[in-house]
Amino acid sequence: MNTILHLNSSIYGENGQSSRLAAEFIAQRPGARVIRRGLGAQPLPHLDAERFGAFLAMPEARTPAQRQVVQESDALIAELKAADTIVLGLPMYNFGVPSQLKSYFDHVARAGVTFRYTDKGPVGLLTGKKAYVFATRGGLYQGTARDTQTAYVRDFLAFLGITDVEFVYAEGLAISEASKEESLARARGMLRELARPEKIAA
Ligand SMILES: Cc1cc2nc3c(=O)[nH]c(=O)nc-3n(C[C@H](O)[C@H](O)[C@H](O)COP(=O)(O)O)c2cc1C
Repeated sequence: MNTILHLNSSIYGENGQSSRLAAEFIAQRPGARVIRRGLGAQPLPHLDAERFGAFLAMPEARTPAQRQVVQESDALIAELKAADTIVLGLPMYNFGVPSQLKSYFDHVARAGVTFRYTDKGPVGLLTGKKAYVFATRGGLYQGTARDTQTAYVRDFLAFLGITDVEFVYAEGLAISEASKEESLARARGMLRELARPEKIAA
């Protein structure tokens, strides 16, 4: 069975525009098993030296608190491993990704677990997956140098081995009501197109 990891990162939870587009895409795939993780509703702590130290410590040397940190990270990684499809709701906040998503990325980037170092550089270990990213913005950035968000998310996913990534943008949501409606309608058309069975199989 197809397993989808639905990651939302809007501070508005399921009501975020990015979350709604992601949910609409998933609704086009009724047979799939869906694992949901709402990073806005259940934010992870920032990665600090204490938490990162838990990842570096040998298992037998970890304190009870460090064991807890590793268990949390392991659970997030198990969700990623179980999924063949990742659907990410990606708002733009202050030119970047939500800090909740950054914390999530910081907790799933684990040397020896989701990537490993080789003499040719790092190699991602989460291969064979496809990601769909629903990017919502108040302004217009797509295809311009100011869109550092797209490159960052692509680079991060590729670092973990997830290189097959489709972006669907809904931009100009804060420009006017007309711009918002038009942009959301275009994004919905694109997501339906991407969800067609022949596209999924490709
Ligand atoms: C705190 C905050 C910061 C924002 N910063 C930007 C920004 O830098 N550029 C932009 O185009 N839109 C910005 N917006 C608008 C959001 O990108 C837009 O409302 C989008 O729909 C958010 O996605 P969401 O509804 O899924 O949370 C910001 C919105 C908020 C709440």
